[in-house]
Amino acid sequence: MSILNSPIKIGDLTIKNRLVMPPMATAKATDDGQVTKQICDYYHEKSFGGYIGLIITEHSYVNLEGKAGKGQISIADDTSITRLKELTTVIHENGTKVMAQISHAGGAANSETTGKAVYGASAYPMPKTGFIPLEMSLADIHKVIHDFTNASIRAKQAGFDGVEIHSAHGYLLNQFYSPLTNKRTDEYNAQTLNGRLKLHKEIIKSVRNAVGNNFPIAIRLGACDYMDGTTNA
Ligand SMILES: Cc1cc2nc3c(=O)[nH]c(=O)nc-3n(C[C@H](O)[C@H](O)[C@H](O)COP(=O)(O)O)c2cc1C
Repeated sequence: MSILNSPIKIGDLTIKNRLVMPPMATAKATDDGQVTKQICDYYHEKSFGGYIGLIITEHSYVNLEGKAGKGQISIADDTSITRLKELTTVIHENGTKVMAQISHAGGAANSETTGKAVYGASAYPMPKTGFIPLEMSLADIHKVIHDFTNASIRAKQAGFDGVEIHSAHGYLLNQFYSPLTNKRTDEYNAQTLNGRLKLHKEIIKSVRNAVGNNFPIAIRLGACDYMDGTTNA
């Protein structure tokens, strides 16, 4: 059997092959972030036949301040759990495992969509837009850790097989990771790798405590800033 077709075990989770569909935003949620029938139909079509071992669903915001755009799925409060459960059921019935990508857009959010002030790692222009967010205080950072943790608990309650923490594409955790956007002078500063990854490690530790040892936690790390003009999409 080829490696591609052989099962892989992550903790107690067995994925039947190595085919993984990465998160791709459909932007078809309701205005308040509820999963719609269109979204369920889309993932039904993708998982039909059970050929894909694992689907990582599209980025879902852990709190309203972290919403990246219209039509994005919410995992920010308990009202989202019922329809997220419908989504995981559709995918599981087709024989595919499913993980939820959980995200905070940080300085890539915008007030028009969220109705909230926009906070990022630093009050420094975002490379793509030039927008200058407010710098997160330690209290803001603690709230973010709390919100990622609660989002993970909801993902588990909704039947997801694991979570993927989004730290790519210029969103909040990428802003902390990249020296281009992290100009902090506290212990989260970008002078050392430990500083750049401090928030990531705190989130992972908190999520792990909340979901137990047998729930896979993945992280999507945007490891390159692509400032040479190539895309990081
Ligand atoms: C329409 C669209 C939506 C996407 N949404 C997400 C997303 O929600 N989360 C994410 O991490 N990546 C997202 N991506 C990036 C994809 O997961 C993937 O990395 C990208 O399409 C490059 O794929 P490739 O490496 O196979 O070329 C999106 C890509 C596209 C085209």
